[in-house]
Amino acid sequence: MLYITILEPYLMYRSRLGNDLSRITLDYVSSIDDDSEIIEFDILGSQAHVIMLLENNLISKSDAKKILSALENIKEEKFDSSSNAEDIHELIESLVVKKAGMASGGKMHTARSRNDQVALDIRMKIRSDINILSTCLVDTIESIISIAKNHQKTIMPLYTHLQQAQVGLFSHYLLAQADVLFRDLERLNDVYSRVNECPLGAGPVGGTSIPIDRQSTATMLGFEGIVENSIDATSARDFVAEYVAMVTILMTNLSKISEDFVLWSTSEFSFIELSDEFTSPSSVMPQKKNPDILELTRGKTADVIGNLTGILSTIKGLSTGYGRDLQQIKSAIWSSSKTSISALLILKSILLTLQVNEKQMKKATDSSYLVALDIAEKLVLEGIPFRTSHKIIGSLVQQAYNSKKPLNKLTAAEIKSAIKGTKLDPNTVSEIIKSTTIVSSLRDRKSFGSSSYSEQKRMVNDRIKKINDCRTEIINRENSLFHAFENLNKKISLLTK
Ligand code: ARG
Repeated sequence: MLYITILEPYLMYRSRLGNDLSRITLDYVSSIDDDSEIIEFDILGSQAHVIMLLENNLISKSDAKKILSALENIKEEKFDSSSNAEDIHELIESLVVKKAGMASGGKMHTARSRNDQVALDIRMKIRSDINILSTCLVDTIESIISIAKNHQKTIMPLYTHLQQAQVGLFSHYLLAQADVLFRDLERLNDVYSRVNECPLGAGPVGGTSIPIDRQSTATMLGFEGIVENSIDATSARDFVAEYVAMVTILMTNLSKISEDFVLWSTSEFSFIELSDEFTSPSSVMPQKKNPDILELTRGKTADVIGNLTGILSTIKGLSTGYGRDLQQIKSAIWSSSKTSISALLILKSILLTLQVNEKQMKKATDSSYLVALDIAEKLVLEGIPFRTSHKIIGSLVQQAYNSKKPLNKLTAAEIKSAIKGTKLDPNTVSEIIKSTTIVSSLRDRKSFGSSSYSEQKRMVNDRIKKINDCRTEIINRENSLFHAFENLNKKISLLTK
């Protein structure tokens, strides 16, 4: 975190407008509080810009040296948001002018506007947030997979309409969540490539007559490319909407997992028990252990959806070219990043401390007719059309249910009446019913990606490999930024020493 103090009023831009802003107007206009998140990027952006100006003979070495030293100095200072500057760009420039003198410091903003500057800062901030978020995502996915690895034999009911549907395995459920989060990661990777383009040098909207080198600043700041069209570079915020949309989807996925866990930790389900540190007591009922933390992930997902809605509403009514409305979307980005990063860190800890009640999960599968479809499919293998088989097993389930007994306690007469009119042999059917158990069903499931024991093993191993590939991609991305900044810092120290 960088700190900058400024005590005197700096209102650098108002020569055309005269009167200083009243305190109330200044507060209204100012984005200085939100800007605390982009100070470091703003300074780096200015430093790259100044070096580019020097390398293209647009300013002298001595000017560059003074400006860069002032910026290095500012990095060390304490940030005090109670300044009179409208935003961090004005604040930093005014400090540079103060430290380096107008003759040199006044040249920093050559061939640049706050419009390309703020677009740059937001892109650098989102780029950094995506890297943090991606690492947190991979860590959370990894913890999900590690639990899945240990629960490949943990039997549980699978639900549709929140009614028991088929017998399944806890690992299968967990791997499904892992795959959703893998897609979140892929979505963020996609967004990254579009965010990782440099808008600097676009000027206010139409470019500049000064012969700058846009590629050079982009390279110094670690960007893969340039946002070519200067109108696009300064006006568009679709990259922001896209990023926050991806974060919103991620949050809805975390919210769904939270809801499953909230439900499964009720005494009615008791499939899992959350560690005490992720629950809250009641102020009045001494026995309570409430899943408040997971409920907050559900609740905070609503906030992030609100952020996305705010951003889209801002963009959709704006004419092309920077409009100050765009200042408002910054806090929505920061808060979406912060919420999703925290939610992932917390979910990971919840998972790693989760107690799984295997007996209770299995018990829930005992009392129902969860193997009905598995039995129906065996009749299909005997040559019966599936629709007929569905009808037969449906009527057998009805009879068993009415006489409050399991399917394997149906009498020969009951079976006979259900298969009347088919070529099926009642003894074979009775044999099929008796031999179809929860465990045999899980063994017999064949299809790719199903709950079968063998598929669990294959999928767990596959996802473990996938995790490593994902990590490599993030590390490569971070390394390329690291090298760019290392080179930039080398240039800065050569010039400032
Ligand atoms: N504080 C502004 C923002 O966050 C910076 C850009 C101001 N540009 C301007 N033309 N007023 O968007």
